[in-house]
This record gives sequence, C-alpha cells and structure tokens, in this order.
Amino acid sequence: ASVPVAVVGAGPAGLMLAHRLGRAGVGTIVLDTRTRHEIETTQRAGILEADVARDLVETGVSDRILREGHEHEGTGIRFGGRAHRIHFKALVGESVWLYPQTDVFIDLADARERDGGTVHFGVRDTEVLDVTTDAPRVRYTAADGSRHEIRARYVVGADGSRSMCRNLVPEDRRVRYGKEYPFAWFGIMAEAPRSAPELVYAHSEHGFALISQRTETVQRMYFQCDPDESVDAWPDDRIWETLQARVAGEDGFRLAEGPVLEKSVLRFRSFVQEPMRWGSMVLAGDAAHTVPPTGARGLNLALHDVKVLADVLLRALGGEGEAALDDYQPRALRRIWRAQNFSHWLTELLHTPPGASPFDRRRRLGELDNVVGTRAGRLYLSEQYTGWPVSAQG
Ligand code: DHB
Repeated sequence: ASVPVAVVGAGPAGLMLAHRLGRAGVGTIVLDTRTRHEIETTQRAGILEADVARDLVETGVSDRILREGHEHEGTGIRFGGRAHRIHFKALVGESVWLYPQTDVFIDLADARERDGGTVHFGVRDTEVLDVTTDAPRVRYTAADGSRHEIRARYVVGADGSRSMCRNLVPEDRRVRYGKEYPFAWFGIMAEAPRSAPELVYAHSEHGFALISQRTETVQRMYFQCDPDESVDAWPDDRIWETLQARVAGEDGFRLAEGPVLEKSVLRFRSFVQEPMRWGSMVLAGDAAHTVPPTGARGLNLALHDVKVLADVLLRALGGEGEAALDDYQPRALRRIWRAQNFSHWLTELLHTPPGASPFDRRRRLGELDNVVGTRAGRLYLSEQYTGWPVSAQG
C-alpha cells in the first residue's frame, strides 16, 4: 500500500492526527501492536482541557463528551486536614472536562471507522525503514499473520512512552532529558458512589492521594506508593484505610467505600527527547515526551502536538515540502517544556518523598498555603491546569 502519512500508534495522538489529516483529504494508515480491546480497557488519564474537548466536537470526532462528560469548574485541594477549592472558571474563565481517555480513544476509533480511515490493531514486527530518504517504508505483520509493506511520504511515531520510533534518531544526534521520582501511584477502580462533586488532590503527611471519578457507581482513585509496591500486598481494607488516612481532616471528610474492581501500580517519570523529527519521521505525544500524571497534562499535550503536526504536514504535502516540518518542534516544544515544568512542580508540591526532612515537610505546607491562600497562587494553578490558549505561538 502507498499513503501520504503512515502513523505508528493508534492511541489518541495517532488517531487524532489521522482524523485531522483525513478531514483535509489526506490518507493515512495507522498501526498498533495492541488490540482495540486492550487499548479500550487500559485505564489512563481522565481530564481534558476545555480546548481539547471543543476540538473533539468541532472537528467532528464526536459530541458524546457533551452528553457523557462532566464539566468541572474547579478542583479541590486538601492539606493539613482542610479542603480548599480552586475555582478555575471564576479565576481564568475556563473549566476542564472529566472524560476518560478510554472514551476519547473509543470516539476516535469509531470516527476512523465511520470516515473510512484505515487502522490496523494487533499488528506485530513493525519496522520503520529509510526515514532519512523521502520514501520511508513501514513493514508489519497483520493480526492474521500476513506480511505487509506501506510506502509513505512521512511516518509519524505516535507509539507511546515505550516508543521504538524515537530510537530511529541516531544516538549521537539525540538528547534525552529526564527525571525519575522516588514514588509511584497505586491506582484503583472501585464500585462506590462519588465522594465529592469534583476531583480532590490531597497532600498529607502520609503522602499524596487523588480522588477522581468515572460514573455514578464507579470511582477512580490513586495514592502515592513505592515504585516497587506489589498489588498483591493490598487487600481492599488496606487500600481504604490508606486512602481514608490521606484525606482525613477536621471537617470529617470520608470517602464512600466499595469493592475494589481493579488495582495497579503506575510508575512515571519526566522525559523529553529532542529532536522530535528525523528526516521523514516525526514524533508526537508520549513517544517524544512524558510527564508525571499529577497535572493531568499528558493526554492534552499529545493532542496539542498533533494539532500543530497536522498543520505542518498539510503544508509539507501541499507544496511547501519538508521545510514546513521545521516549524513543528519549536511550536510543540514550547508547550511541552511549560507542561514539564507544571507537572514536575505540582508533583513535588503534593507528594511527600520518602525520607523528607522535617524542614522539607513544613516548607511544603508553606508552599501549599501560598498556592491556595493567595490570588496569584490560585490564578497560577488555574492557568496551568486548564491549559494555555493555542494561539500563543503554538
Ligand atoms: C485522573 C488522572 C490524573 O492523572 C489526573 O491528574 C486527574 C484525573 C483520572 O484518571 O481521572
């Protein structure tokens, strides 16, 4: 097969790129090693910026988010046993949407099917060849065992945080920036009613917890744990005891408990690879950069990348040629590093690293007081969490 753009990775970044290009009449083939079912049932992020939610509707992916998503005008921050509300809408005029990444994926995969786009799930042995020429190729084995080759003008690596595409940039020509954290998240799905009308980000002397939601009867929660923690050591009662201790306070706040349906340890790091392009191959989303999950930036950032990338690819294919791609990295990187900073800052603000000194613990409480207790602090958090307008130089 021959196609203008071959996309490796059928997560939200790869599929949204294919959708945007498809609308402009540019054909794509999207490949993923995972099955559609695997992607649909892997719990991921939950929060979308208002701009991203609008794009899903306005570009014609789906308006399901307007019916089934939940608009949140603010968020709760708990520390020192007290609740504080950051009212995004009043502070910066924007809200965010609670709409799980699995639903974003389903909407995008359905839209590809509806629009006649080609997506192959469950492929194996994907190889990307000749990216330093203007005729790159992608070879793969389909789910039925047949071997295929796609000829393309450009290849997009949207193959996630364990990207193989990013390794196509030669070792001596790439830089990888990153940071590891001495903690991870223990994530659960629980069958229980909502405990709060909005998300609750909780800092406690025992560590961080995040109370999120999925439906009337299923809730999503996380708590800070050791990166080597094993889920087998965590029966339901121990999970609830830990979560309750992290949100407890003088206001008597308690989580509504119920059976734990799913549990997993989620490790994370901060990571950026530059350059984001090598010849005819361009990276997008987690393949090029990952952030710790605390600031809810990862999915939003990936969708921003492909908005910029769709624009430059259309220009490149429309006659400007490969030079148009030179605009991608600077426009994308600016937001990437801002999001890296915010995600890192919020992670350090809300977690308690093992072995934190008494000074560090008290200083962190002082910083939390500065954030929720000053207009500038609340404004900063709101601007960062709701995202930055796309018009600001990309
Ligand atoms: C969810 C995940 C996040 O990382 C976050 O910051 C907020 C919400 C969630 O899964 O709902």
